[in-house]
Amino acid sequence: MLYEKTSTSPVNIAVIKYWGKRDTELILPTNSSISVTLSQDQLQSKTTIRASPKFTKTRLWLNNVEELNLSNNARLQNCLRATKKLRKEYEDQLSDEIGRDNVIPLSTYNLHICSENNFPTAAGLASSASGFACLVYTLSQLYELPISTTELSKIARQGSGSACRSLFGGFVNWQMGTKQDGSDSQALQIASSDHWPELEALICVVSDAKKSTSSTEGMQNTVKTSPLLQYRINNVVPERMKFMTDAILRKDFNKFAELTMKDSNQFHACCLDTFPPIFYLNDISRAIIRVITEYNNSTGKPGEYKAAYTFDAGPNAVIYALKQNIPDIINLISKYFPPSQNNLNYFSDPYNLFSNESEKIGKLPLPNNFNEDFIHIFPNDSIKQILHTRVGKGPRLKSGSNDSLLNSDGFPK
Ligand code: DP6
Repeated sequence: MLYEKTSTSPVNIAVIKYWGKRDTELILPTNSSISVTLSQDQLQSKTTIRASPKFTKTRLWLNNVEELNLSNNARLQNCLRATKKLRKEYEDQLSDEIGRDNVIPLSTYNLHICSENNFPTAAGLASSASGFACLVYTLSQLYELPISTTELSKIARQGSGSACRSLFGGFVNWQMGTKQDGSDSQALQIASSDHWPELEALICVVSDAKKSTSSTEGMQNTVKTSPLLQYRINNVVPERMKFMTDAILRKDFNKFAELTMKDSNQFHACCLDTFPPIFYLNDISRAIIRVITEYNNSTGKPGEYKAAYTFDAGPNAVIYALKQNIPDIINLISKYFPPSQNNLNYFSDPYNLFSNESEKIGKLPLPNNFNEDFIHIFPNDSIKQILHTRVGKGPRLKSGSNDSLLNSDGFPK
C-alpha cells in the first residue's frame, strides 16, 4: 500500500495588503487583508508527499533541488508538527473505534516531499503562498484530517502569512484575529471563483537586476520604524476591509479599483516611511502606474476606472480589469514597454484575444482620449512578459497515475 498524495495550489494577489506581524513565530499579522486567487492555468505549485516506514528521514525537494538542514527550517517544521499532531489525534480516535491494529500510524512515518512551480522562480513571482498552501493541503489529504479549510488556513499561515489565503479560490479575507495563540487568525472565503467572471488580471514581469528585501525582513523593519504603518493599521485598513468586501460582493469595479490602487500606494508609502527606506517599485513600475492612471483618465469621468494596478514586495505589476478592457491594456503596455524581437515569451495570448494576429499587439489604435505624449517609450524588454489570467479555484487533489512527482523508489522523477 502506497501512502501518497499529490495536489496543486494557486497564487493569490492581495488587494488589501498584509504588511507587518505582531507575532513573528506564529505569523500573526498587524492588520487583516483581502486577496484574489488567480487561476492555476498560468501559475501553480504542485506537491507530492509520500509517507513510509522505510524512509530514514524526512526530505524535501524544491524545483528539483534538495533542501538540506530541514530541522533549521522553523516554518516548515511548524507546519509538519501541526499536521502530525492532528493526525495523531485522529489515529487515537480511530483506535478507540476500530482498534489500534487497524489504524495506519502515518504520524510516525518519515516523509518525502517533492514540490515544483509551473512558473520560473526567475520571474520574481512570489511562490511562498502557493508553495506552503500546497504543502499543508497535501498533508491534510495524506493524513485524511477531518478539519475545515479555515482550520487548515491557520496551519498554512505558519508557513507564510499570505499562504493562508491560497487555500481558498475566489476572493479571500484573512482575519487578523486578536488572540495571542493565533486561534482566530484565519482565512475565510468572501466569494467563490465564479462570483465575478468578468474580472481578469494581467501580470507584468518587470526587469530588475537587484534582489529586493524579503517580505519577512522588510515588514518587521516597517513595524519597528514606520509611524505611517501604525496609522494605516488603526485608521485605514479596518474601514477599507469593509468597503472592499462590499465592492467585491456588489461587483463594483470602480470601488474595487480605487481601493486596490490606494492600498498598494499606501503599502509602498509605508515601505518608504521605513527607516532606512525600502524601495520595491522601480522606474518601470512607476511608469506602469502612469500608463494606468492615464488610461483611467481617458474615461473623462472622475471616479470611473478601467484598470487597477497593485504591486507586492517587488517591481512586478498586477493589473486587475474587466474582460472587455483587457485587449486595450495589453496594447497600451506593449506600446510603452515593447518586447525585443527575439523575446518569444512576451505574451502567449492564452485566451486568443488577438485571434492569432499577435503582431498587432502594441500597434493597435490607442483608446479614445488617451494622451499619447505624456510618457516616453521604454527600452525593449523593460517588461519581459505579460501573463493574462483569471480568478481561480483553490487547491486541487490530483489522482491521475502520471501526476506523482515521485518515482516508485520514493525519489523525485
Ligand atoms: C507584500 O506572506 O510573503 O505580498 O508571512 O513573512 O512569509 P511572510 O510574508 P509574505 O508577505 C506577503 C506580503 C505582500 C502583501 C500580501 O500578500 O498581502
